[in-house]
Amino acid sequence: MLYIGIDLGTSAVKLLLMDETGKIKKIVSRAYPIAFPHPGWSEQNPEDWLRETLEGIRELTEDCDKTQVKGIGVGGQMHGLVALDRDNAVLRPAILWNDGRTSEETDYLNNVIGKAKLSSCTANIAFAGFTAPKILWMKKHEPELFARIDKIMLPKDYINYMLSGVHCTDYSDASGMLLLDVEHKCWSREMLEICGVKEQWMPRLFESYDTVGTLTAETAKILGLSPDVKIVAGAGDNAAAAVGTATVGDGQCNISLGTSGTIFISSDSFGVDKNNALHAFAHADGHYHLMGVMLSAASCNKWWMEDIIKTAKYADEQAEITRDMLGRNQVYFLPYLMGERSPHNDSGARGSFIGMSMDTSRANMTLSVLEGVAFGIRDSLEVARSLGIKISRSKVCGGGAKSPLWKKIIANVLNLELDGIESEEGPGYGAAILAAVACGEFDSVKDAAEKLVKVTSTVVPDAELAALYEERYQVFRNIYPAMKPLFRMIQN
Ligand code: XUL
Repeated sequence: MLYIGIDLGTSAVKLLLMDETGKIKKIVSRAYPIAFPHPGWSEQNPEDWLRETLEGIRELTEDCDKTQVKGIGVGGQMHGLVALDRDNAVLRPAILWNDGRTSEETDYLNNVIGKAKLSSCTANIAFAGFTAPKILWMKKHEPELFARIDKIMLPKDYINYMLSGVHCTDYSDASGMLLLDVEHKCWSREMLEICGVKEQWMPRLFESYDTVGTLTAETAKILGLSPDVKIVAGAGDNAAAAVGTATVGDGQCNISLGTSGTIFISSDSFGVDKNNALHAFAHADGHYHLMGVMLSAASCNKWWMEDIIKTAKYADEQAEITRDMLGRNQVYFLPYLMGERSPHNDSGARGSFIGMSMDTSRANMTLSVLEGVAFGIRDSLEVARSLGIKISRSKVCGGGAKSPLWKKIIANVLNLELDGIESEEGPGYGAAILAAVACGEFDSVKDAAEKLVKVTSTVVPDAELAALYEERYQVFRNIYPAMKPLFRMIQN
């Protein structure tokens, strides 16, 4: 049997073909553009996602026995607003998870409707990237388009809709809309009303490992696959990555270093961080999780390398960073290139370097970018620790996890053991596992993840280095509060 796992990312769609033993037979990646039409805004065309996903499935399956393909699962970038009219035409480019245009709508929800109300309806407060404030933004700024809405969906749900004809979503991804009553797993009627959303616009809700349908006859023909291929509900990319790294069950942790940076803590029971600094979402295994999200993680390094110092030789730049430089860098970097979600909830925050002197080198600057992201993840870990959650080790996945230096810095800044796993394809692998579970290959998501996911390396923090980084973290955490008023002035 073969299962297709799809990670609908921000820079590309990554697809993999997995057999029933969990072995990855082939990986394909296809990029698409992202537009930043104003500072802090970000958009993509759902048609681009669909075209590259269909092409990707064709490429992935071109030399396998297609009759063996039994299921498809998609894990996707969360929160994006996809709106269709009654002819299923996309009404406007999708507004993405890292788009910061909705500060007015976010303030309205948090301060006029009130955080307590939002939290009691949805277990979360408003963040600029969440879907509900984007709906309010569209209602105010694009009333003609808003009046034509017939269906609302999340990015991966657009792919599932086009593959299966079923307008559906799963609880993990739906949690990030600020329209779901996360604890009771149903749409919050009160929130729908507050946002002017009709319930018939909303997708049907499923567990991530549920089958929602099969390929339509038309897509089956286009792809050369059987119309019996099952489509599973899938998951938000972070929940899918957690499945792909076996971060299931109580108190397990996964750090993802992709375009965004996330720290994901799985839990068997529902719980909310009392200050709502961490997201309280449903997990793809049928349970729940808490999550801290940085809007720019590996993307800070990509920006620094490719846009600023103009090189694609990441390893060469990192080779200039010698062991004695770790924990002693005088340069600090605030990684808020697209504003920041956790824990600051500030779409007006921006990236900043501070502490340079005449002897600062290019390597110091590169190191500060890697360290700034690690400190940002530590900020969310501190919130989890303040809730009494004990974490001593974490899995790590995503593009940034390919750098041994970055993993070492993170292990020491967080003072956690970091487990690397055989497949770094977190969301895609998790999505393929969800498809295999839906097709009856395993008893549960937990059973599948524990059988298939293998830890192949561990980075252990060094007491001396962790102590040096502790001192530096205490400096780092003072920089954002000092800069905050300046960010307001820059914005104005
Ligand atoms: C999670 C989030 C990001 C995106 C990235 O809340 O916004 O991790 O899902 O794809």
